[in-house]
Amino acid sequence: MDTIKVAVVGFGTIGSGVAKLLLTQGDRIARHAGCRLQLTRVVDPDVTRPRNVQLPDGMLTSDLSQVADDPEIKVVAQLIGGIEPDRSIMLRLLESGKDIVTANKALLAEHGAQVFNRARELGRSIAFEASVGGGIPIIAAIGQSLTANQIRSLRGILNGTSNFIVSKMEESGADYADAVREAQRLGFAEANPAMDVNGSDAAQKLAILAQLAFGARVRWQDIPRIGIDRLDPADLRYARELGYRIKLLASAQLVDDSLELHVSPTLVRVGRPLAEVREAFNAISVVGDAVGPVFFHGLGAGQMPTASAVVADMIDMVTGRTQITFRRLEMWSHRPSCVSMRDYAQLTARYYLRFSVEDRPSVLAQITGILGKHEISIASVIQHEPTNGEQGDIVPLVIMTHSASEGAADSALKEIDQLGCVRPPSVRMRVLDEANSGSA
Ligand SMILES: NC(=O)c1ccc[n+]([C@@H]2O[C@H](COP(=O)([O-])OP(=O)(O)OC[C@H]3O[C@@H](n4cnc5c(N)ncnc54)[C@H](OP(=O)(O)O)[C@@H]3O)[C@@H](O)[C@H]2O)c1
Repeated sequence: MDTIKVAVVGFGTIGSGVAKLLLTQGDRIARHAGCRLQLTRVVDPDVTRPRNVQLPDGMLTSDLSQVADDPEIKVVAQLIGGIEPDRSIMLRLLESGKDIVTANKALLAEHGAQVFNRARELGRSIAFEASVGGGIPIIAAIGQSLTANQIRSLRGILNGTSNFIVSKMEESGADYADAVREAQRLGFAEANPAMDVNGSDAAQKLAILAQLAFGARVRWQDIPRIGIDRLDPADLRYARELGYRIKLLASAQLVDDSLELHVSPTLVRVGRPLAEVREAFNAISVVGDAVGPVFFHGLGAGQMPTASAVVADMIDMVTGRTQITFRRLEMWSHRPSCVSMRDYAQLTARYYLRFSVEDRPSVLAQITGILGKHEISIASVIQHEPTNGEQGDIVPLVIMTHSASEGAADSALKEIDQLGCVRPPSVRMRVLDEANSGSA
């Protein structure tokens, strides 16, 4: 059996998981690859810190040139993270003739065009299964298995940290800050979880999926996004009372041949698969015009789930499968976008609205009057007695609407927040449209 030399650059959480799989599961990997993947070098600035895998003497080095300048190393799993030096190192390794496996969604979302086009010019390939959904094989599914389809919609819980925090808030009634601390204690959130909780990480992953599924050339920064960082436990309770759970959904949907993209906390009907995704799990619901609804669920992060995707990509590289698909992939190519983006103000949804209002006559009429003026019709209203947490005569008023445009909903809420009887800011969240949600 042939042997192909491979390397790992970045010996952190995922890099050590990849090294562990390559070193302990060599026979199984060789059976699937048709050749042995011989881990030859592992590069990391820190060659002393203990990891949970023992490397053979001399394999670990802080000198990248031992990989870049070794022509026998064909495939590199580059697992550093961030933008720099990851981008420069990727370009250097491509120039040195290596094919790259990456898990770095931030780098791809920011500089995908540069690294993909350089790889194409050099006749090299980049595999990136682990960049979205960790261990869930969503890139292979969309990029290969579902290519007979026009994808109609794609909705995902793409950030496990946010899902863990929202699940904790819902299950234990914890407030946002306590749930974040719990996530940090258990290793599900970083010391600074801003990118996870403000929707940016999910938007980066959505930008990658939108490129792959719809040929959309979209910058992740241009995807409208709202995170969970201002989520109030009261909304989780009221949503539950109405038969919904709140999930941070990343959503892409074709409407009249233009693409709607957004990341937002969304009410999902209890019992729907996306509503039941708990803790740090990820899930993606895809609807294709031929296949219909397909649902993916699994661990979207963590050492071994992510290493599973990285090593599968390394196997695909040595078998030559990636090189074939990469050549045909239109992602970040010079071709124009295959689809136009729908203006955010025109997107439509049903909404959950919560107002904190004075408990006196005519308040409801004033609010419904403004909603009516903006052509937003009401599906249901709940008004509660003041609870201990609410002061004096201020009470919550929860309204579920029928379908309305973002623009109309935004204008109506701005106007309502000006009313003397309302304590702003009012809360507005989308409700997943069951008619268009496929298996979601
Ligand atoms: N962790 C997950 O669950 C997960 C899931 C999906 C995708 N990913 C992605 O996987 C990638 C790696 O994540 P991770 O969690 O493994 O990060 P990590 O634990 O921080 O590991 C990164 C490693 O790279 C090292 N490094 C820094 N600069 C380097 C350089 N110039 N050359 C070689 N190594 C260098 C770091 O060393 P120092 O610590 O000394 O700086 C660290 O050991 C990221 O792109 C991340 O987004 C992670």
